[in-house]
Amino acid sequence: MFFELTEEQQAVQQAARDFAQNILKPSVIERDRDMKYPKDEIRQMGEMGFLGMMVDPAYGGGGMDTMSYVLAMEEISKVDASCSVIMSVNNSLVCWGIEKFGTEEQKAKYLPKLATGEWIGAFCLSEPEAGSDATSQRTTAVDMGDHYLLNGTKNWITNGGTSSVHLVMAQTHPEKAHKGINCLIVETNWEGVVIGAKEDKLGIRASDTHTIMYNDVKVPKSNRIGEDGFGFKFAMQTLEGGRIGIAAQALGIAGGAYELSLAYSKERAAFGKPISQHQAIAFKLADMATDIEAAKLLVYRAAWLKDQGMDFGPASAMAKLFASEAAMKHTVEAVQVHGGYGYVKEYHVERLMRDAKITQIYEGTSEVQRIVISRNVLKNGQLYIPIWGNGVGTEV
Ligand code: CAA
Repeated sequence: MFFELTEEQQAVQQAARDFAQNILKPSVIERDRDMKYPKDEIRQMGEMGFLGMMVDPAYGGGGMDTMSYVLAMEEISKVDASCSVIMSVNNSLVCWGIEKFGTEEQKAKYLPKLATGEWIGAFCLSEPEAGSDATSQRTTAVDMGDHYLLNGTKNWITNGGTSSVHLVMAQTHPEKAHKGINCLIVETNWEGVVIGAKEDKLGIRASDTHTIMYNDVKVPKSNRIGEDGFGFKFAMQTLEGGRIGIAAQALGIAGGAYELSLAYSKERAAFGKPISQHQAIAFKLADMATDIEAAKLLVYRAAWLKDQGMDFGPASAMAKLFASEAAMKHTVEAVQVHGGYGYVKEYHVERLMRDAKITQIYEGTSEVQRIVISRNVLKNGQLYIPIWGNGVGTEV
């Protein structure tokens, strides 16, 4: 069992850390306050290769492993979770989905622009009545011969107003239930694509979340991903990878809150000594450090399994569940460590607390992760299927 990062992974981690601390941090409070989309920052992230990290260099990407992507996500999330969700959706839902399941024509047309950040992508699965219950798609894609006619409404779409490409899940054969769903690549400048209201959110306020309407949008058949009816499996398999990205985001948010709390607790004195010297605070730091290390192992393992080409679905669900719960719990504790200062924006931890909440909700709520994990455990009769190294399970 090896825990070292490669030199390349360390270089990516350092570059992301420098970018987050030097470029993102000085303006993050203002972006959060004003719900200001980080246009320049996202452009720079594209130039640095953070928006298509795992895409094959033949299509303009960085050709990196999932582990490098996770490390970059973690560092950027320590400072600005709005930037990291834009990055995560583009990398692991949109680019990865097209690269893994798209045709050569689709990859050649869309990946070079998406991987460099010239275009940003969005993943359009959720609907007013299809959040966790994702099979209940009401958006329709009627087969018109050479094209589909797309109609419906999607909700809570990250990158909704700033994306050039949407991956839209829609029902073509209602009689086949989830087996009738297709995923269509839709360009947002096509007639009938209407960008609805921007959401005013609790956290990740600088990211751009919208309702989207599709009104008689003509989508060429050549823009369907996979076989007819593959859309639901496409969404589920793509989300397995996406959840590693959100797990890394939660890990970063928790790590950012921990680093700020550790530093503050050494500076702030009460009752004649730094508050870190009071057991009440020292134990909070101990619990934060322990949970963050545990989350790190789960998140890195999920990334490693994916890089090995092994089954990573249950591992990504576990990583997201644990990391997001830890992020919520410990950002609340970080505010407590900071006392009154923690309650004001200048000290960053109240924003991290607000940002943490969404990691328990999007890309599958904590309850959905428990569905995925429990079904797997019950089906396989194993505590966990592939463990480090050889993929052999551990019997309960
Ligand atoms: N890989 C491949 N196939 C899968 C799969 C997977 N991981 N998970 C399920 N499937 C298949 C099943 O095998 C089944 O196929 P068959 O009928 O051929 O056997 C089919 O999909 C239906 O599966 P289930 O019976 O398990 O479906 P379910 O209704 O019980 O739902 C669920 C399962 C796990 C709850 C699923 O609906 C789910 O993941 N819901 C959450 C959706 C979600 O994560 N949304 C996030 C929105 S995107 C987002 O947030 C992005 C952003 O902007 C940040």
